[in-house]
Amino acid sequence: MSLNWRISLASFSRCGPSLAFRLTAGYALAGLFLVFAATASLYFVLSSELEKSTDLFLADKVNVIRTMLRERPDDWDGLHEEIELESAARKYEHFYVRLLDARNQVLLMTPGMAGQLDLSKFKFPSSALSERAVRMNGSDGQTFRAISATVAVGSPPTATDTIQIAIDVSQKEELLARYRFWFWFLFTASSVLFPFIGYEIARRGIRPVEEMATTARHITSTNLRERIRTEGYPFELAMLAATFNQMLDRLEESFERISRFSADIAHDLRTPVNNIRGEAEVALARVRRSEEYREVIGSCLEEAVRLSELIADLLFLARAESPLTHLRREPVDVGQLLNGVREYYEASAAENGIVLTTSLGDEPIVGDMDRTLIQRAVGNLVSNAVAHTPAGGLVTLVADAEAAAIRIEVADSGVGIPAEALPRVFDRFYRVDSSRSKASGGTGLGLAIVQSIMVLHGGKAEISSRPGQGTRVTLHMPISRAA
Ligand SMILES: Nc1ncnc2c1ncn2[C@@H]1O[C@H](COP(=O)(O)OP(=O)(O)OP(=O)(O)O)[C@@H](O)[C@H]1O
Ligand SMILES: [Mg+2]
Repeated sequence: MSLNWRISLASFSRCGPSLAFRLTAGYALAGLFLVFAATASLYFVLSSELEKSTDLFLADKVNVIRTMLRERPDDWDGLHEEIELESAARKYEHFYVRLLDARNQVLLMTPGMAGQLDLSKFKFPSSALSERAVRMNGSDGQTFRAISATVAVGSPPTATDTIQIAIDVSQKEELLARYRFWFWFLFTASSVLFPFIGYEIARRGIRPVEEMATTARHITSTNLRERIRTEGYPFELAMLAATFNQMLDRLEESFERISRFSADIAHDLRTPVNNIRGEAEVALARVRRSEEYREVIGSCLEEAVRLSELIADLLFLARAESPLTHLRREPVDVGQLLNGVREYYEASAAENGIVLTTSLGDEPIVGDMDRTLIQRAVGNLVSNAVAHTPAGGLVTLVADAEAAAIRIEVADSGVGIPAEALPRVFDRFYRVDSSRSKASGGTGLGLAIVQSIMVLHGGKAEISSRPGQGTRVTLHMPISRAA
């Protein structure tokens, strides 16, 4: 047992990682990738949208002031309100505005701007195209987004001022920071959780396979009854289990046949051996006359012949099953062959009051087959027919050929075979009425030999029978008729 285990483990050492491991790794990696891709892309969309909304706000402000300076350059009250009051009144998202003249002298500025921001960091735009917002840090740790723009004063313009605006985006930055925190939290949690979930899914998926393996491990030649249950499994595995069970059915059947066969062989060998032994013992019990010894030896010889015939039959069947067996094919005239068999059995048939005939077509049927084996098969059929046909009966041997097959038929008008026995008559040692057949000396191997000869020729034997009316055995061979 332990050796077996070692052998099976050794043979597994060449396999790759387990299925559960592969599935788990696959699920976990796919899940992590999806979480990463989804959350990261959402983050980038959110951050760019926030930036865009800030930039729009700044552009809007620049536009309002630009319009005011162009249309009403002397409206200082309006500018004062726009730059100094409105921005200072804001509670959240503070913004600061500074208006400089052409010599960079401050004209107007939101209160507190100089304290919050390092004003020297404002870039002075060289053209309208360079009006791009930049990041700036406030003195209290806030983050600002700032823009500088040139504005024309009056229409037509009399001077060029510079407007500088900075908006506090700390709230938005905090939002993004919180998002990043959750992103990493989710990612870390997923990389811990996904392998567990993946493993659980994989384990459930392959549990039926493990159960099947356990059942298969329990099955031995003496315990072929066990079957894998198929209920509750997914369709694919239920199908696998059903196929496996069908294989077990076939194995069980052939094991049963083999053990029945061995029991039959033992039984059939024992009878003649016991007879020989019994007769020899009786003969040796006292001194006998030479005629008596002669009689005993004759009877022993008869049994020995029976034994050697039985052994020869068994050997033939064993050889016929070997894949190395070759047929000695030669062109055989089937009509001639049937006539030969008929002549061989004619005398004994006539003795029993049975007529043997052949029914052949006008054209000779010639095919490549093993003459000796076909003779033996037909001989077995005729001997059966003669043995089971009462006096006054008729046995007919028929041969015909189709495009790519030759058919030989032996039909009798004998006692027939009951329907329930028909499927088994080709089994080894099977006899319909064993007491009756034994009296006539049959071993039950005749039809088994016929079938294996047909299998060797790539064909098959079929039997049909009506009790009380007769039996017909047909040999089909896929052999083209030779020219
Ligand atoms: N033509 C037939 N008519 C009636 N029963 C038959 C016929 N041929 C075969 N059987 C039945 O089928 C059984 C099996 O036949 P099979 O030829 O295999 O064995 P057997 O004739 O008993 O023995 P063996 O042929 O080995 O000497 C026979 O015992 C017989 O009962
Ligand atoms: Mg027979």
